[in-house]
Amino acid sequence: MMGLSVMRLATGRRFLLLALLLVAGAAQSATPPGKTAIATAHPLATQAGLDIIKAGGNAFDAAVAITAALAVVEPQSSGLGGGGFYLLHRSTDNLDLMMDAREIAPAAASRDMFLDANGNVIAGASQNSARAAGIPGEVAGMAHLAERYGRLPLATSLKPAIKLARGGFPLYARMRAGLEFSSTKFKQSRDARRNFLHNDGVPDVGHLIKQPQLADTLEMISRQGASSFYQGKFAQQLIAGVRKLGGIWTETDLANYRVIERRPVTGHYRDARIITAPPPSAGGVALMNALNILSGYDLNHLDRANRDHLIVEALRRAGRDRAEYLGDPDFVNVPVELLTSTAYAAGQRNSIRMDKATASDSLPEVIDSSRESPQTTHFSVLDGEGNRVAATITVNLGFGSGLMVDGTGFFLNNEMDDFSVKPGVANAFKLVGAQANAIAPGKRMLSSMTPTFVETDRGVLILGTPGGSRITSMVLLGVLDWLEGHDATHVASLPRFHHQYLPDEISFENGALDADEQSALRSRGHRLSQARSSYGNMQVVTWDYLTGEVAAASDPRGEGAGWLY
Ligand code: DON
Repeated sequence: MMGLSVMRLATGRRFLLLALLLVAGAAQSATPPGKTAIATAHPLATQAGLDIIKAGGNAFDAAVAITAALAVVEPQSSGLGGGGFYLLHRSTDNLDLMMDAREIAPAAASRDMFLDANGNVIAGASQNSARAAGIPGEVAGMAHLAERYGRLPLATSLKPAIKLARGGFPLYARMRAGLEFSSTKFKQSRDARRNFLHNDGVPDVGHLIKQPQLADTLEMISRQGASSFYQGKFAQQLIAGVRKLGGIWTETDLANYRVIERRPVTGHYRDARIITAPPPSAGGVALMNALNILSGYDLNHLDRANRDHLIVEALRRAGRDRAEYLGDPDFVNVPVELLTSTAYAAGQRNSIRMDKATASDSLPEVIDSSRESPQTTHFSVLDGEGNRVAATITVNLGFGSGLMVDGTGFFLNNEMDDFSVKPGVANAFKLVGAQANAIAPGKRMLSSMTPTFVETDRGVLILGTPGGSRITSMVLLGVLDWLEGHDATHVASLPRFHHQYLPDEISFENGALDADEQSALRSRGHRLSQARSSYGNMQVVTWDYLTGEVAAASDPRGEGAGWLY
C-alpha cells in the first residue's frame, strides 16, 4: 500500500514523450557541483540534512531528515499531521517530478460541511475544529522519498529528528511568538500543553522543548515503516482521538492515503526554463502564467514603477484564473496547458494598459486579512551529484488546528480551510474560489505552495517560501531577481509586494516601493496597502555552472540557515 504511486499523464507512449521532453528541455552542467547546499527555516534542520549527506545520503535522504527535523523544531509550520509538495530533480536521468503529499478530505467530508442550516459559513469551523483537518500526507511522503529516491533506510534519515524530539531544543523567538498567538488552541490536549507551555504560560526563549510522544511516533515509523502510522494500532488510536475531538476521520481514510507523483508545470521565460508545482497547487500555474504575460515586455529596461505595474497586472490576471479554474486535477478538469500557454498570455496582455490599473472587478467575474500567519515552511537542497529538492510543507495556519491527539505528539492540520467552503467566501488568506475547489470526499484542497527550479545557461535556482496566497508573488519576484543577475542572498532578502486579484490592492513590505513608485502606482489607479509586518521565509539555493560555486541563503526575516558542505 504505502509507496504506491502514479505518474499522472505518464503512461505508455506518453511516458516516452515526456521522458524525451524532460531530457531535451534540461539545461545541465557537464560536471556535478561536488558540494551540497541546504537552506531551511531552522539551523537544526539544516544540520540534520547535512548530517545525512555526511552519512552517505543524497538530496532525497536529506529531504527526509529535514522534513522530520522541521516537524520537531518548527511544529507551528509543518509536521506529521500535515503534508506538502516536493519538487524533485534526479541528476542521473534528468527526471523532474513533483511528489504530492498533500492532505486529502476525509470520505465523510461534504461540500457544505462548514455551512449552517441557512447556508452561512460557520465562523472558524474550517480552521479551529477537528473537522478542519485533512488526512495527513507527510509520513507517506517521507517513506516514498526514502524508498524510491533515497540511498539510506528511512530509519537512518529519521535519527536526527528523534534525537531532537527526545533531547529537546531551545525555544526561539519566532516559535515563541507563534505560541503567544496560538496556544489558547491547545486547551484540549494535555501533551501539547505539557510540551510547549510552562505552568500554562508561554515559556521564555531558551526554554528546552522536549516532545517524547513525537519521539515515540517517529521511532515507531523508523522501526515499522510508514504503514504503522496509517494502519493498525497507532492508526486506531489516532482515529479514536480525532473522533473524540469531533472529527470525522475513519480507519479507511488513513489506510487509503496515497502519495501521487505528478508531472511538474514547465515553461520558458526568456532563456530560462521554469520547473514548478502543478495542481493541486495553484502556485506553479499562476507563476508560469505571470511569467508568460511578462515575457511580452522588456522588464530590465523599464523604470521601477512601470515594472511593478506590469508585475501587479500579471499577478491580478493569474489570481483571477486561480479562483475560477484551479482545483484538484483528479476531480476537476484544470486547463493547465491552456493557462500556461504563451498564446493565452498574449490574449491577457491585450487588456493591460501601461497608464492605468485594471480594476479586478472589470475582469470576467468569478463570484469572492490578511490574517497572515507566519507558518508553513520551505527548504531547498542541492547535493554534490546535482540532485535537487524544493519542498514546501505545512499544517496550514500556526500549529494547524492547534489540536493534538494525546500520545501521538503532532498537531492536526487545518488544511480544509484551503478549500472554497462556499463560492465567493474568502478563506484565511482572503482567497476566493468556485466549484473547482469545492470540498469533496478524497479530494485534495487547492494550495498556493510553489516549490520551483529555474535553469539557465548560467546555472540553477532552487527556491520557495511559506506565506499563503503571497507565495506566488514572492517566488515570481525571486525568479525575476535571480534572472537579473542577483545572488541567493539578494533573492532571499528582497523587499516584496503582492497582488492576488481580490482584494484589489497592492500590499507591500516596508522598503519594497519607494515614494516615487508609490505615487506613480497610485496615479494609475492602484490601491496600496502597506503590510503590517514583513512576510515570507524564503530558502534559496543556487549553483553557478561557470564558476562551479554553490550558495545557500535563508530569508533574513526568519532564523533559518543556509549552509554548504
Ligand atoms: O497550501 C497552502 O497554500 C496553504 N495551506 C499554505 C499556508 C501558508 O503558507 C501559511 N504561511 N504563512
